[in-house]
Amino acid sequence: MTTVVIVGSGGREHALSDVISRDADVIVTPGNPVIPHSTPTSPLEIDADLYVIGPEAPLVTGLADQLREQGKLVFGPGADGAQLEGSKAWMKDLVMEAGVPTADHGTFTDVKQAHSYLETMAAPYVIKTDGLAAGKGVLVTDLLNDAKIAVNDYLSGSAFGGAGEKIVIEEGLVGPEISILAISDGEKAFALSPAQDFKRLHNNDFGPNTGGMGAYSPVPIATPALVDDVLKNFIQPTITKLRQRGIDYRGVLYAGLMITEDGPKLLEYNVRFGDPEAQVVLPRFESSLTDLLLEASRGDIRTTPVFTSDAMVTVVCATEGYPTSPRVGDRIKGIEEATNTNGVEKVYAAGISLDEEQQPVTAGGRVLAVTGRGSTIEGARQNAYTGAGKIHWEGLHKRQDIAEAVK
Ligand code: AMP
Ligand code: GLY
Repeated sequence: MTTVVIVGSGGREHALSDVISRDADVIVTPGNPVIPHSTPTSPLEIDADLYVIGPEAPLVTGLADQLREQGKLVFGPGADGAQLEGSKAWMKDLVMEAGVPTADHGTFTDVKQAHSYLETMAAPYVIKTDGLAAGKGVLVTDLLNDAKIAVNDYLSGSAFGGAGEKIVIEEGLVGPEISILAISDGEKAFALSPAQDFKRLHNNDFGPNTGGMGAYSPVPIATPALVDDVLKNFIQPTITKLRQRGIDYRGVLYAGLMITEDGPKLLEYNVRFGDPEAQVVLPRFESSLTDLLLEASRGDIRTTPVFTSDAMVTVVCATEGYPTSPRVGDRIKGIEEATNTNGVEKVYAAGISLDEEQQPVTAGGRVLAVTGRGSTIEGARQNAYTGAGKIHWEGLHKRQDIAEAVK
């Protein structure tokens, strides 16, 4: 049987390991106490047929390159392609050259120039760190003064350290957001079934941006025609432009899109599966995810991915204080009851560790994601919430409106 090493320790890697282990042996590094076959051994020291790198940070710092230098088969871009996520300024430059529809923008390192540019824009004002900031480096505000203060905080390094010392200021776009994840073999790409993510901390999209508080798939507004449009006019031109720059991009190309009155526009590219999008898209695979990732890594995808028509909804259970200062060390109850609930596909584990009595305790901001399955989104949503309702710890926070009233 094929052996696959998965790098990472969150809910996304739990979902990857669960679905890949349908037809392969899986090792997860470092994983966490709930993900089977987790090990602290470095991926560079494990022998396997395929290496799948989950998070953006090791991709940006070149783990895929190191493994490829050892002659390994790797799913995930090298440090060159990972700049699509590692530098917003680099990404914007590339997609403008490729003709991909995206928000107007300027790149700044100087406070005065950034403030002058802001004064030429209309609300909402959008400020982004150039570098990685764990999904938290984006400010969207209607207040010019708040935007100017943010510019000072970002550029001085006081808000996000080096990640904010260069910033991108963007035209504020309005409309529903969708995530379309494509699998690229360096020349061509296939889209996965779309997902929608809920980025804000509180119900009705209030509060700060987070890594994502829940998700669902499929997405009724993401019609087959829209997905084709995104493949043809966003994903393919990007892969072609990367090739022209000498970059052979084998991995996930995740387009975060806003559906504006003028059609879809690109908000961001990620170079990995989304979290928590993975926890709803991957369990819907009917064809072999392992084969798809093997083919992409070899540079020749031959099989179009097939998904169940069942819907999946995932609800993230987070700790008090997330995303700024998550409180940790609280004993978690009810994982087994949630897992055994009718219609619960899986409880995916992220920020979790074991205390001295080997009992699970909170160890990060996003702790668990409970995915429900149903023949409709509403059915999947009810199953996810019934399961999530069985999980308890002091200070648990979850949104109540994930996938509510989806049209
Ligand atoms: P990003 O990490 O670039 O996707 O940004 C995080 C979130 O900020 C997105 O999911 C949007 O909700 C919001 N956002 C980003 N860019 C824009 C924009 N140009 N206009 C309006 N909202 C945006
Ligand atoms: N859920 C958004 C992300 O993974 O970036």
